Amino acid sequence: MTKKSSNANLRKANKNKNDEFYTQLSDIEKELWHYKEHFKWKTIFCNCDDPKESNFFKYFALNFTHLGLKKLISTHYETEKPSYKLEITDWLDLNNDWKIDLSDIQKINLKQNWDFRSPECVEILKSSDIVITNPPFSLFREYIAQLMEFEKKFIILWNMNAITYKEIFKLIKENKIWAWYWFNMSLVFKSTYENNLVANLKFCEQKWYFWKNYIKTPAINWFTNIETKKRHEEMILYKTYNEKEYPKYDNYDAINIDKVKDIPTDYDGFMWVPITFLDKYNPEQFEIIWLWISNSWIEIWVKPYKEEHKKYRKEVQKRWAVDGDLYMIKNWIVDVPYARVIIKKILK
Ligand SMILES: C[S@@+](CC[C@H](N)C(=O)[O-])C[C@H]1O[C@@H](n2cnc3c(N)ncnc32)[C@H](O)[C@@H]1O
Repeated sequence: MTKKSSNANLRKANKNKNDEFYTQLSDIEKELWHYKEHFKWKTIFCNCDDPKESNFFKYFALNFTHLGLKKLISTHYETEKPSYKLEITDWLDLNNDWKIDLSDIQKINLKQNWDFRSPECVEILKSSDIVITNPPFSLFREYIAQLMEFEKKFIILWNMNAITYKEIFKLIKENKIWAWYWFNMSLVFKSTYENNLVANLKFCEQKWYFWKNYIKTPAINWFTNIETKKRHEEMILYKTYNEKEYPKYDNYDAINIDKVKDIPTDYDGFMWVPITFLDKYNPEQFEIIWLWISNSWIEIWVKPYKEEHKKYRKEVQKRWAVDGDLYMIKNWIVDVPYARVIIKKILK
């Protein structure tokens, strides 16, 4: 390795301290109990973990018999040296105190560092049934791409922002991944930062909160490709369409809807709904057409600003009008929505 690339790696390792967040047991329990029936006689792989810290490992180790698991594997990631994995194939004797003694568990030392992309890790991935973890946010695109490549079932926790990544949204649109029960939550994670001050400043800037070793992080979702009842539940809608309440955009043939519950039952054209729609999305009821975020006009042909409207945009929303904005005129000013999902009713 050259000096330059090793420095770059060090910088990267340092930066990725942002990935060292550990999920609390109560949050894992709240979500995973919905999946009980899916775990029977399955090999569960936690491939972005540190079994000493991870409550995912703890949850499955404690519930091994109750869930009827076949095997649990958790890998410990090291940035630059060989690491190990822990494996459980039978229930643990907890001595009635419900504490896991890691020295009782089979520890297997390995040649590689247990990067989820390393050949050793990929071999386990291939032989496992369900991957469950909270992967490093910074590697999210790669992480999902790998799961899709090996056609693995998964339940993972991730930041809501990932929905706006093109490649992730495409999977949602194609019904290859979907939201599970808890959606858009603020979760408190345990952090293993050594330098709390640096972490503190950094996350305050991003409007996260930090106290002692815990960090409150908004907009966290569970996502999965395991079939769920929730995803086939019809949203109960009660409103009907009228032009006044559902204005059309000035540069796109679609109506605006500010609250998901207000989707009209009888409108057959394009509707633009807030991104929280994904929590209620049932593919038998609606089709997802596209995700609109600022300047995504190239894909969906949002028309440019009308000449007479350009001047308002700068004054009201403090930036120049940019062709590609989706907008409507409300009370004589240009109104540009935040990210929206474009949907259409499935006609039966
Ligand atoms: C957000 S933390 C979550 C930890 C644990 N799954 C949990 O939720 O409690 C991400 C974990 O992935 C590990 N990690 C970071 N980069 C990794 C990589 N390239 N391959 C595998 N694991 C990695 C980190 O060390 C950390 O333990």
